[in-house]
Amino acid sequence: MSLIELRGMGREAIASLLDRAEAFLGDDGVFVPPDRARSLEGKAIALLFFEPSTRTRISFELAAKRLGATTVLMRAEGSSLQKGETVLDTCLNLEAMGIDAFIVRHRERDTPHVLAEHLSRPIINAGNGSGEHPSQGLLDALTLRRAIGDERGLLEGKTVAIIGDIVRSRVARSDVHAFTALGARVVLGGPPTMVPARGDDGWGEAEVVTSRREAVAEADAVVVLRIQRERMNNASVDTDAYVRDWNIDEGVVAEELPAHAKIMHPGPVIRGEELSSAVADGPRSLILEQVRCGVAMRQAILGALLEER
Ligand code: CP
Repeated sequence: MSLIELRGMGREAIASLLDRAEAFLGDDGVFVPPDRARSLEGKAIALLFFEPSTRTRISFELAAKRLGATTVLMRAEGSSLQKGETVLDTCLNLEAMGIDAFIVRHRERDTPHVLAEHLSRPIINAGNGSGEHPSQGLLDALTLRRAIGDERGLLEGKTVAIIGDIVRSRVARSDVHAFTALGARVVLGGPPTMVPARGDDGWGEAEVVTSRREAVAEADAVVVLRIQRERMNNASVDTDAYVRDWNIDEGVVAEELPAHAKIMHPGPVIRGEELSSAVADGPRSLILEQVRCGVAMRQAILGALLEER
């Protein structure tokens, strides 16, 4: 079994992974030593990161090592990809060496699907271009559920706004599916060039608006996204207009957000562009809690995919 996307994954499957992650979290901010601490002893996990990453790569590596697995890291630079070898041939070779699972970040949307079709070991999609980022969607859902979820661990009756560069965001796509599966209403907000058009595939029941005030007015939580310039093919952005219309600073929080609304961001945060430092570091921010939940969530994912093999 692989983890390629959250689209099509039901409430039960998502909740089960979140429940599994809870076992790795303590109330005091310390990771609780789980009874499965060495459950992946003897497993070898390949981290294939062909796009930059800080949080995803390091938290998957920490998660694997905390469960007793060995990890190997590979980037394109310095590898035989630079001589023309394909990613699939690379992975077939790694599988022949005894790799038990592949965590893959690649700019092409079909890469994890192709690998899952041809390899017998689990593939975990760590971001495929603007496709999906399922472990981020799950850790965001875990963070949100812990912050504003009901006693059943659901988000029914809650509104989550995701604002910014939505169409180029793999995080937004995975978040929509995770939050919707747990019962939340999702509102997508951004400039007209950054939000899905009516009828675009992959956004489920999410509502789309092009005014910040409208997007956040009823939000219990706001997920703020950066402008993903690396996927813009050199198209220019009017940064001043973006900051004016979409940046979340203390004034916007005071005037436009409900008093209880939480702030989230998958990182990296571009301070002053989509979020001010005062808000990113302020009392409503769950940003570092997302990072903390990320390690537990990735322990849960690795355990679910590899423990029974
Ligand atoms: N949120 C996220 O994917 O961060 P990285 O790009 O640093 O892994």
